[in-house]
Amino acid sequence: MPEAGAVAETGRSVRAAVLHEIGSSSLDIRDDIEVAPLTAGKVRIKIKATGVCHSDLSAMNGTIPVPVPAVLGHEGAGEVVEIGAGVTELAVGDHVVVCWSPQCGRCTDCANGKPHLCMTYMMNAFTDAPFLRDGQSVFGMAGAGTFAEDLIVPVDGAIKIDDDVPYDIASLVGCGVMTGVGAVFNAARVEPGSAVLVIGCGGVGISAIQGAKISGAATIVAVDMVEQKLEWAKQFGATHAVTPGQLQSTMGLLTAGAGFDYAFEVVGRSDTIRMAYDNTRRGGTTVVVGVGKADDMVSFSAFELFYGEKTLRGTYYGTANIRRDFPRMLKLWRAGQLDLEGMITRRLKLDDVNDAFTAMQAGDVIRQVITFD
Ligand code: APR
Ligand code: ZN
Repeated sequence: MPEAGAVAETGRSVRAAVLHEIGSSSLDIRDDIEVAPLTAGKVRIKIKATGVCHSDLSAMNGTIPVPVPAVLGHEGAGEVVEIGAGVTELAVGDHVVVCWSPQCGRCTDCANGKPHLCMTYMMNAFTDAPFLRDGQSVFGMAGAGTFAEDLIVPVDGAIKIDDDVPYDIASLVGCGVMTGVGAVFNAARVEPGSAVLVIGCGGVGISAIQGAKISGAATIVAVDMVEQKLEWAKQFGATHAVTPGQLQSTMGLLTAGAGFDYAFEVVGRSDTIRMAYDNTRRGGTTVVVGVGKADDMVSFSAFELFYGEKTLRGTYYGTANIRRDFPRMLKLWRAGQLDLEGMITRRLKLDDVNDAFTAMQAGDVIRQVITFD
């Protein structure tokens, strides 16, 4: 049974940004979203900061499945303000990063050392609504929903961090940074001295560039069509930054036409996946980090798959073991090796979330973080 305090909080309305229909171009910011009752094994978090990720936009346009109505947002950090029955790992007052794909630690995938593939909580996003409005379910994106003042998640969906980590920094670790750096560390395992290609220089791509630099890559080529992104990519560790049209000649010059040891696609499109594969050397690794549409087909010839002997793989949530890797990202940040402050181009309030999507699509920002007072 929830504690007495939990019952008193039930029915409380919070401010939240809601997607009513797939295909809507904007979110509805409302004050009448209720937080669902806190049940056993869950915690209530007061969200302090949430990044705006391209995946939020992908939920709006139908690329990423989300039940509606739903509160979007999945890259958040906050303070635990209430714990459900049976919760022993977290306490009120703990600072946490929200994990949108919680890892139970007990299933076959977790036991096999692939906790990022844990399915234990996956269907909850479609069945277990963390919010209500007029008695009707309001879901949370990917089982999260950080575009809200308060959020209820299973205890495995909140990872404790040190109290002195600023919430805006911490929030980025919850998705973009983990995904981009994790793609390099965990999926590709980039080796020192290697040649790396990163296509797409948003928050996730810039994280991949930083991960490649930390891994000791000798050559890091960033690709984007937005000029400002190319500048930023160099600031974060790219040795070269080019437009898609310049890639072929750059690859020719830097790798003697052989291709890159590792190529990361961080856009989520069939043509850029193809570009990443084509620019990977024989025997090299192509990693699909971006989330593309279910009907956006990529084709490969039977011969080239054989002849190239390339590894083509995806990476889900940076192939992360979150209990190991969230703290690891923050250790690298503390050590000055991972620049998270520099990734925050803009801070804004929840009311401006739609404006944030406009800026993201225009390529004006690396990451935008919404802060709550
Ligand atoms: N070629 C090169 N770069 C491109 C192309 C293209 N055809 N199309 C878009 N880009 C660039 C954009 O200019 C932008 O800089 O890709 C970048 C994407 O950045 P964001 O919109 O900030 O996206 P981000 O949050 O980094 O996510 C990237 O990873 O997690 C997934 O769902 C997410 O698929 C998305 C991807
Ligand atoms: Zn994300």
